[in-house]
Amino acid sequence: MERLDLRRRMLFALSMLKNPRQVGAVWPTSRRAVSDLLDMSDLSRARTVLEFGVGTGVYTAGILQRLSQNARLIAFEVDHELADLVFSRTPDPRLRVVKDSAERAGEYLGGGPADAVVSSLPFTTLPPPVGRNILDLVPEILAPDGVFLVLQYSRGIQADLEARFASVERIISPLNVPPAFLYRCMAPLGPEEVDAP
Ligand SMILES: C[S@@+](CC[C@H](N)C(=O)[O-])C[C@H]1O[C@@H](n2cnc3c(N)ncnc32)[C@H](O)[C@@H]1O
Repeated sequence: MERLDLRRRMLFALSMLKNPRQVGAVWPTSRRAVSDLLDMSDLSRARTVLEFGVGTGVYTAGILQRLSQNARLIAFEVDHELADLVFSRTPDPRLRVVKDSAERAGEYLGGGPADAVVSSLPFTTLPPPVGRNILDLVPEILAPDGVFLVLQYSRGIQADLEARFASVERIISPLNVPPAFLYRCMAPLGPEEVDAP
């Protein structure tokens, strides 16, 4: 277990060195910040949950702990080595790890909506079209009573969230390096209501 943890951390650090704007963080999210974010919603009632930006899998494990046995988690990660490592260490039939951009999450849903989307993507450093495509997609694929949980290291995308959701709540998780802004977005607005800045 310890070697695996070291391997995950090393792969994450290497990924950060190779693609700093894509990874956007030096350290994996702390366990405390992961629980603080997941505590913002009741995932035990969700049937389909999407995760954007698997990284070392800290959220993946936390989400699976909270999901019911008949739920499913579809987790997206563009770094193939990280995706393979997390998948190999998480033998859970509810989990599917997809080596593709979260921009294409809608293609993996099989028609139904997502009840929750959990994202630790670095929206402020991703190439602008990628971040915008993902932010535009989430209200389209989320169930009307679904929830979008987002971890960020700045308030840079708050206006983008408020333009796409009628309800956006923010708390700070101080026990993370750096302290994290955690958002719970609900009541997705329809395309005609969206007023993206
Ligand atoms: C800030 S790291 C968070 C990793 C992990 N969830 C954690 O907290 O430790 C962001 C992760 O998102 C991944 N990523 C970046 N762009 C992506 C995209 N378009 N689709 C899916 N994953 C992406 C990166 O490779 C990286 O692993």
